[in-house]
Amino acid sequence: MIQFLLDNERHAVTAVDPNTTVLDYLREHLQRIGTKEGCASGDCGACTVVLGKLSNGSIRYSAINACITPLGQLHGKQLITVENLQQGGRLHAVQQSMVDCHGSQCGFCTPGFVMSLFAHMKTYEQPNKAEITETLGGNLCRCTGYRPILDAAVKMYDPASVDQFTAREPTTVAELELIESQASPIELVANDKRYHAPESIDELASLMQQYPDAKLLAGGTDLCLEMTQRLQEIDVLLYTGRVKELLQIVDTGTTLKIGAAVTYSDCEQVIVDQYPDLRELVERLGSRQIRNQGTLGGNIANASPIGDMLPFLIVVGADLVLRKGDVTRTIAVEDFFVSYKKTALQAEEFIEHIVIPKASKGYLFRAYKISKRLGEDVSVACGAFYIKVEEGIVRDVRIAFGGMAEIPQRAKQSEAALRNQPWTQATADTAMKRLEDDFTPISDFRASADYRMQAAKNLLQRLLLENDNLPEELRVTHHD
Ligand code: FES
Ligand code: FES
Repeated sequence: MIQFLLDNERHAVTAVDPNTTVLDYLREHLQRIGTKEGCASGDCGACTVVLGKLSNGSIRYSAINACITPLGQLHGKQLITVENLQQGGRLHAVQQSMVDCHGSQCGFCTPGFVMSLFAHMKTYEQPNKAEITETLGGNLCRCTGYRPILDAAVKMYDPASVDQFTAREPTTVAELELIESQASPIELVANDKRYHAPESIDELASLMQQYPDAKLLAGGTDLCLEMTQRLQEIDVLLYTGRVKELLQIVDTGTTLKIGAAVTYSDCEQVIVDQYPDLRELVERLGSRQIRNQGTLGGNIANASPIGDMLPFLIVVGADLVLRKGDVTRTIAVEDFFVSYKKTALQAEEFIEHIVIPKASKGYLFRAYKISKRLGEDVSVACGAFYIKVEEGIVRDVRIAFGGMAEIPQRAKQSEAALRNQPWTQATADTAMKRLEDDFTPISDFRASADYRMQAAKNLLQRLLLENDNLPEELRVTHHD
């Protein structure tokens, strides 16, 4: 059984197919149709709902895409849909602001915009245009415009008013704690399909052995596309998002240990603090809704050749701690990818955590993503560079690209052309040429092979030029 709060009441579900998404459950089982389906793939935001989660004795609200969230993930949470906002015939401040600013558009996109803005208002105490724009990056409208909605996002704030969610928060906390205190297993079983949400790593390891063909479900932002786009049915889902050991972030002094089930929203700041140039990449990695669900561990295990964080993890020398039963082993991220979408994971083995070395002094780190759209788009190519230059000579360099081969991969020939050479345009020209020895990219609907190669070369050129324009204290030793 799973239990969650809906309409301020405890809602229990037992015999529902675990392949059911939150969106389908709302619309088809509960006939609750305010939440819309646009793309069913996590791109448009029409299906945005808000989850309230326990967090140190209060509730943290986050927007998610209901279309790519399996129902089981609701356990222990408060589900808020657009139907919950209006109270006693009065619009919520977010809705009223949308009306006042003429931000309400068609019935497909508007509920999603409203729910994203609601989560934003519950997260940020004051309006800030950059934060609002980032929040709305996952809500698409191709017909009208965003300006009235941005206006509404600024005007929705009224410090004097307390909405029904804040007024009821102590009761909501108590009800969620009661759900959490119950010992019954968190599972859904129906139609020969199973969903389990273990709470400890030992429990997860033993479930992996019991169901060797099970699919591990972390954020589900990619796995759920199997269900919604390819119409696949998954027999056994093992959800990692409640395994306490996989939800930890530990600063060891020299490394960051990120549990495999930590969401991007929960770990992006600690990583960006170490590698500030990652900020743009992280913000373009998916919408806020996606980052509220998606995990770094899932991004790695998914092994996509265009996984945005993978070139970064390779160049900084990150490791993975893998676990099978009660045995662990460590492998470099660089060695984890074997061939297209194939990894070094053995049967019943899973990623426990990711170990990211902290930034090394004297190194310049840069990461660049090339995609057709700035936001909400997959990479054509993604390059990461980690370089140390002393007295004009390249002492150390690591370069990795996504989108240039069937796996994310180092550019070792290009690195060799740079290492122990003067950090000059002539050396960079040679290194750019050597990229042709490192990679044979493919042509597909995103870009031609020629485009990809030229773009990769240009990123190396950009690294050289950008370094020149950095403030002195951030620049690796200037070339002549
Ligand atoms: Fe488009 Fe869910 S329906 S993101
Ligand atoms: Fe709703 Fe454009 S999708 S107005």
